[in-house]
Formats: sequence, C-alpha cells, structure tokens
Amino acid sequence: MTNPPLDAFGPLYTSAQIAARVRELGAQISRDFAGEQLIVVGVLKGAALFMSDLIRAIDVPLRCDFLRVSSYEGGLKSTGVVRFEFDITQTIEDQNVILVEDIVDTGLTANFLYENLKLRRPKSLRFCTLLHKSANTKINFDLDYIGFTIPNRFVIGYGLDLDGLYRNLPDIRALPED
Ligand code: IMP
Repeated sequence: MTNPPLDAFGPLYTSAQIAARVRELGAQISRDFAGEQLIVVGVLKGAALFMSDLIRAIDVPLRCDFLRVSSYEGGLKSTGVVRFEFDITQTIEDQNVILVEDIVDTGLTANFLYENLKLRRPKSLRFCTLLHKSANTKINFDLDYIGFTIPNRFVIGYGLDLDGLYRNLPDIRALPED
C-alpha cells in the first residue's frame, strides 16, 4: 500500500498550542519533583522534539538519556513486536525516572519499556507522553503526564513520522478518521 501524501493530513494542534501544553507539563513535573533530581529518558526518534522542549520547561535538576526501540517498521501499523535498538547509558537505580514518549497507541511499546525499566529498581518511574490514542490502549500502569488525548487517527509532525518523513513539521497533523 502506498503512503498518503502530505496534503491528505489536516491540522490537529498548532505549534503555539503544543508549546503552551508542553509548558504546563513542565510546570506540573517541576511541582511534583520539587527538591528532587530527575533522569528524563526520551524514546527516540519520535520523542526528540518533545523531549528537548519539555526539559527546558522543567526547573528541577535533571539528567537526560535516550533509548530506542522498534515496533513500527516504517508504515501506518505496529508490527506487534518491540525490541531494543539501543539502551540508556546510565544506571537508574534509586533515581526518579520519567520516560518520555511521543505517542501511546496500543500501549505495547509503553508496557515493554515500563516493565523493563521497573526491573532496574528506580526510586520512582513515571510515564509522560505527548499524545495518547486512548481508544486502542491496553496498559498495566498509569500514564502520569499526557499532553493531548486524541482520536484514533494517524498523526505526523513535531517528531512523529510517516516512513521517516515529516518529523520536522512544527505542528501536528492528522489523517481523517478511518
Ligand atoms: P504503540 O506501541 O502501539 O503504543 O505505538 C507506539 C509507537 O508507535 C510510537 O512511539 C510511535 O513511534 C508509533 N506510532 C503510533 N501511532 C502513531 C501515529 O499516529 N503516527 C506516527 N507514529 C505512531
């Protein structure tokens, strides 16, 4: 199946709406962890833009790290199998950790990452996602910080891709409802 062209996508959130929501999330995280220190772990590549804006909206001391897993192999649907492509480079034992994702859809990736990092015995583990496609999600834990809950539509922009393209769009755009 060929991928839809860019003009098939309509507006969902403007860059101003995203920036305002990211500031709110940063303020909330700063309040929740006042007096503490954090390790913020971004899930590449999708969360790269969100992560870089979010950490600048957080005013408690923090370290950054990144990991990469694959579940989508380029197209519109998940393959159903999650595997590490690379891992974080520091120990998280006894640390406050926030995992930062671009989007939670089925929850397969989120569950895999949450269970995996939990085994490393962090002091606390929270999950932050910019977007939540709640209709499809089956997870065993709470999403602590959610930017926007969205309908079941494929989205691009602000880090989110279609076959590697469109991550650089400053806004978020969506295909019409299936
Ligand atoms: P899940 O495992 O089904 O929750 O999917 C999570 C991952 O799938 C995200 O980290 C994204 O990389 C990708 N994904 C899910 N929905 C979309 C979408 O609408 N646009 C782009 N990528 C998506």
